[in-house]
Amino acid sequence: MIRSALMNVMKAAAVKAGRGLKRDFGEVENLQVSVKGPGDFVTLADRRAENVLFEELSKARPGYGFVLEEGGIVEGADKTHTWYIDPLDGTTNFLHGLPLFAISIGLAREGQIVAGLVYNPANDDLFIAEKGQGAYYNNRRLRVAARRDMADALIGCGIPHIGKLKDHPRFMAECAAVMKRAGNLRRLGAAALDLCFVASASYDGFWERNLKPWDIAAGIIIIKEAGGFVTDADGGPDMLAKGSVCAGNDAIHRQLLELVRSAA
Ligand code: IPD
Ligand code: CA
Ligand code: CA
Ligand code: CA
Repeated sequence: MIRSALMNVMKAAAVKAGRGLKRDFGEVENLQVSVKGPGDFVTLADRRAENVLFEELSKARPGYGFVLEEGGIVEGADKTHTWYIDPLDGTTNFLHGLPLFAISIGLAREGQIVAGLVYNPANDDLFIAEKGQGAYYNNRRLRVAARRDMADALIGCGIPHIGKLKDHPRFMAECAAVMKRAGNLRRLGAAALDLCFVASASYDGFWERNLKPWDIAAGIIIIKEAGGFVTDADGGPDMLAKGSVCAGNDAIHRQLLELVRSAA
């Protein structure tokens, strides 16, 4: 298990914000739902959770910068550390009463992600990782799946919501290419959790484009520390900048990348 002071800070903030999300889950009529764009929502629950995370992390680590989904960039006096925060990943699931949503906290030091936490308060699922210390689900050490044959693989993906489809013209072709070769395909609706499901060997692989740094910063280090391979959808290291990910063990990552890149 990871027992660092940093992880304690991250856990305490996530548990506190998670209490609010748990309370708000199922209370849609009181959550002031607003529309950011077609198919893209934000609620009072997202904002409240973000405020708690911002306050708690600022108190514990004064000066660190923030990249917040709802609040944007907050520069810190300490230019070497940046938190990437998604206070509620899976807002659509949350609004529909599907208990697949999570808080995602990633920390970068000098541009490198050094710690990640993804917490689903609906069922107390906690995924954590710190650079060089492994990845854990609750108290269990994580290891990506060993399956190497795409025909047996369960692959996760992200379906762009209606407002984002135009930014992803290749999506249908990519899906078709993967569906022709993979054992089966899933779409769960919370990218931070999707990445953790690669780390925990529930998924054999996952890819998605048009994501934001707060969706993936934590999940990336959790996969790497679980022995997985994760790159952007072009096979490079620029996941945060490009907002795309492709992940799995070495063999599934290589095959999935090939399928996604050659889809037309
Ligand atoms: C969304 C989820 C979803 C992904 C979307 C994200 P949000 O995050 O991660 O799985 O497909 O692209 O925007 O808005 O629920 O935090
Ligand atoms: Ca959102
Ligand atoms: Ca998100
Ligand atoms: Ca969110």
